[in-house]
Amino acid sequence: MFAVNCRTMDVLAVFVRWSVFLLIAVSLHVHSQAVQQTTEVDNSYNFYYEQPCCSGTVSKSKYHVRHRRDHVREFSCGTLYYRTFFVDSKRDALYVGAMDRLYRLNMNNISASHCERDSINLEPSNVAQCVSKGKSEHFDCRNHVRVIQPMGDGSRLYVCGTNAHSPKDWVLYSNLTHLPRHEYVPGIGMGVAKCPYDPADNSTALWVEKGNPGSLPALYSGTNAEFTKADTVIFRTDLHNLTTGRREFAFKRTLKYDSKWLDKPNFVGSFDVGDYVLFFFRETAVEYINCGKAVYSRVARVCKRDTGGKNILSQNWATYLKARLNCSIPGEFPFYFNEIQSIYKVPGDDSRFYGVFTTASTGLMGSAICTFTIGDIQKAFEGKFKEQASSSSAWLPVISSKVPEPRPGTCVNDTSSLPDTVLNFIRSHPLMDSAVSHENEKPIYYKRDLFFTRLVVDKVKVDMMGHQLEYTVYYSGTNEGKIHKIVQWNRNGDSQSALLDIFDVTPGEPIQAMAISRMHGSLYAASDRRVLQLRLALCARRYDACVRCARDPYCGWDRDAGVCREYMPGLIQDVANETADICDSSIARKSVSATWGQSLHLGSFVKMPEVLQPRAVTWYHYSREKGRHPITFNKPEKYIETSEHGLLIISVNEADAGRYDCWLGGSLLCSYNITVDTHRCSPPEKSNEYQKIYSNWCHEFEKYKTAMKTWERKQEQCARQNDSNQNTHPNEIV
Ligand SMILES: *[C@@H]1O[C@H](CO)[C@@H](O)[C@H](O)[C@H]1NC(C)=O
Ligand SMILES: *[C@@H]1O[C@H](CO)[C@@H](O)[C@H](O)[C@H]1NC(C)=O
Ligand SMILES: *[C@@H]1O[C@H](CO)[C@@H](O)[C@H](O)[C@H]1NC(C)=O
Ligand SMILES: *[C@@H]1O[C@H](CO)[C@@H](O)[C@H](O)[C@H]1NC(C)=O
Ligand SMILES: *[C@@H]1O[C@H](CO)[C@@H](O)[C@H](O)[C@H]1NC(C)=O
Ligand SMILES: *[C@@H]1O[C@H](CO)[C@@H](O)[C@H](O)[C@H]1NC(C)=O
Ligand SMILES: *[C@@H]1O[C@H](CO)[C@@H](O)[C@H](O)[C@H]1NC(C)=O
Ligand SMILES: *[C@@H]1O[C@H](CO)[C@@H](O)[C@H](O)[C@H]1NC(C)=O
Ligand SMILES: *[C@@H]1O[C@H](CO)[C@@H](O)[C@H](O)[C@H]1NC(C)=O
Repeated sequence: MFAVNCRTMDVLAVFVRWSVFLLIAVSLHVHSQAVQQTTEVDNSYNFYYEQPCCSGTVSKSKYHVRHRRDHVREFSCGTLYYRTFFVDSKRDALYVGAMDRLYRLNMNNISASHCERDSINLEPSNVAQCVSKGKSEHFDCRNHVRVIQPMGDGSRLYVCGTNAHSPKDWVLYSNLTHLPRHEYVPGIGMGVAKCPYDPADNSTALWVEKGNPGSLPALYSGTNAEFTKADTVIFRTDLHNLTTGRREFAFKRTLKYDSKWLDKPNFVGSFDVGDYVLFFFRETAVEYINCGKAVYSRVARVCKRDTGGKNILSQNWATYLKARLNCSIPGEFPFYFNEIQSIYKVPGDDSRFYGVFTTASTGLMGSAICTFTIGDIQKAFEGKFKEQASSSSAWLPVISSKVPEPRPGTCVNDTSSLPDTVLNFIRSHPLMDSAVSHENEKPIYYKRDLFFTRLVVDKVKVDMMGHQLEYTVYYSGTNEGKIHKIVQWNRNGDSQSALLDIFDVTPGEPIQAMAISRMHGSLYAASDRRVLQLRLALCARRYDACVRCARDPYCGWDRDAGVCREYMPGLIQDVANETADICDSSIARKSVSATWGQSLHLGSFVKMPEVLQPRAVTWYHYSREKGRHPITFNKPEKYIETSEHGLLIISVNEADAGRYDCWLGGSLLCSYNITVDTHRCSPPEKSNEYQKIYSNWCHEFEKYKTAMKTWERKQEQCARQNDSNQNTHPNEIV
């Protein structure tokens, strides 16, 4: 007969404690979703699920749903620098410009596209000559496709590529076949001034069908037009009568080598809006006359009807104007994000332009998202002009009486009839005095130590008990391959925003291109190595707590099932955080019964999401003796906080019984009700009870040993299989 008493249990508890410490030491994370799924929570090692480290073994498990791949689709044919996107919603195709290739991807499922079948080879010519100029054979001297634009009804595409530092253009059928010889398109073949020589250059181009002189189609572009990069242009090609092939109007460009017009620009986008084409870029600021140099962001405008001047500016734009874009944190000394990196406009909506801006590369690094309305842009162009009287004086607004008539920059029917006074004025005064102010006079979002490279925007309409609520969701890619998902809304005339999620999409590689399709509910992002497709509504995949789920306008919390779903009326949603405690009732109280001396883990998150990391999780215990009191972690022999903000209670006793709540800021995140079974610690009366308890504990002990062994084995496997593809980041989505 064995004497089993509380001391034996103490020994066991020590063992348990030791193993628990080991488990913590390697920060094996606990899966609270699993906890939610288990109604009667088994209060032992079942809590300890392995991290999704050895994907081979874990993928079969019903846990770690977030790491399944079925919500992410990938397309890659190798490291081919996927940098240009064009979405053809009519043909349901995503065209991707890469190195020596143009792909046509199935928008519904990009993984279903084929490297060979869905592509066309556009190999460079004259590689040898390019190499002889000192450019690299395997990157610079290849053909990087930089322009893909639809022509006519979209059955043909205009394509331009760097072609080994000798830009060249093509017209292709949308099914990626070359045109037959008899379907000759005049003006095609030479890509100079249409796309860059250097694949590293930042350029833009837009095929415009309507509103040009003679109603003839043309390509508008912003790029380097020389191998040496000395000549940068905003350009429109010659206009040809496509039937006869005759050149009806000559090309137009910005004034050559004039730094007042353009000074080392990096173009980020161009749009056809009404009578104008708008160009967005950053350039050396001519008006900055302090020491050193500054880069400012600009929007420039040309009239589509512009045919140039007669004697002056005959080859140039007679309507070219530009204005600074103001993206800054307001204050006595506004903090400026001066360098535009990307610009987006929602198709079919010309009212707003959404941009990402960064600070100058020296000094404090940071990024911001700013919105500009077309009204504010036009207002800047209707305002005062800027001038510098002499090379040493300050830049000042031009007084109204010095501005000739018709006002320079207005769209007149025939620019060649403009008087010389107007042409001379615009030649020397392309810059507007005031900057285009950003909507609400503050960025939508900004953050330091981040570099946003690309941006796309979605508008989400939600029917909330008969009210139509509208949200704008921003997806901003970074130079480290992450996507920040931000929601913006207006309440009582004020604009507010919140960071919803961060996805690790192409870890370590900058996001080079992004696109969005509401029809497919998908977001597309490219890095140099691959193209990825993600769902816009990532609900159950990303949010395991009501607090986060309810803030995402695509999602809603299903109280009954305890899961996050795509939004529909009836689900809990509170994007603006207007209803306090809206999630509290959705928190399932989990009952846990523990045996005396046992250690317990109470989870708060499966993995602490990066967006929440700056915010603290607080644990409270409601005990019979002390009432509600916060738990502090200065007694490691009792409480330990896990790396995912869970709570470990070591060796529970009677005093540890009661309710435990965890709070994230003002929101209840989880709640546990612990009962401690102390009964078994009083001496058992009959010998068969002794035996029963002893065998119970032996059983438990064996389970611990097995759990330890399993863990050790997994750990070894992990060490062996350790490769860069592990899902070890909380943001990782693939
Ligand atoms: C997408 O296409 C891939 C390759 O054909 C296929 O394996 C996968 O099941 C498809 N996914 C969906 C959701 O259709
Ligand atoms: C591609 O489209 C053109 C024009 O619609 C058509 O003439 C040609 O046959 C198509 N080629 C293929 C391979 O489908
Ligand atoms: C193009 O833009 C990127 C991102 O801002 C920048 O790193 C790169 O230097 C630019 N290219 C050139 C040639 O300036
Ligand atoms: C092109 O030229 C033909 C023949 O001169 C003429 O009939 C047609 O209207 C012209 N097209 C355009 C768009 O100007
Ligand atoms: C400009 O041309 C349009 C149509 O061609 C005409 O209706 C309008 O009167 C013209 N405007 C001026 C100021 O000549
Ligand atoms: C930019 O906007 C801020 C905030 O509205 C304002 O304080 C600042 O003066 C503006 N800067 C310029 C150059 O217009
Ligand atoms: C939501 O509002 C509550 C107060 O009602 C506040 O305590 C909490 O911090 C807010 N949450 C966020 C994310 O702003
Ligand atoms: C916790 O559970 C015990 C036993 O099931 C029950 O008596 C008690 O009322 C529960 N407490 C709370 C706060 O739910
Ligand atoms: C996996 O490898 C990385 C770097 O190669 C290393 O930092 C990490 O500790 C390794 N993890 C394991 C479990 O061995």
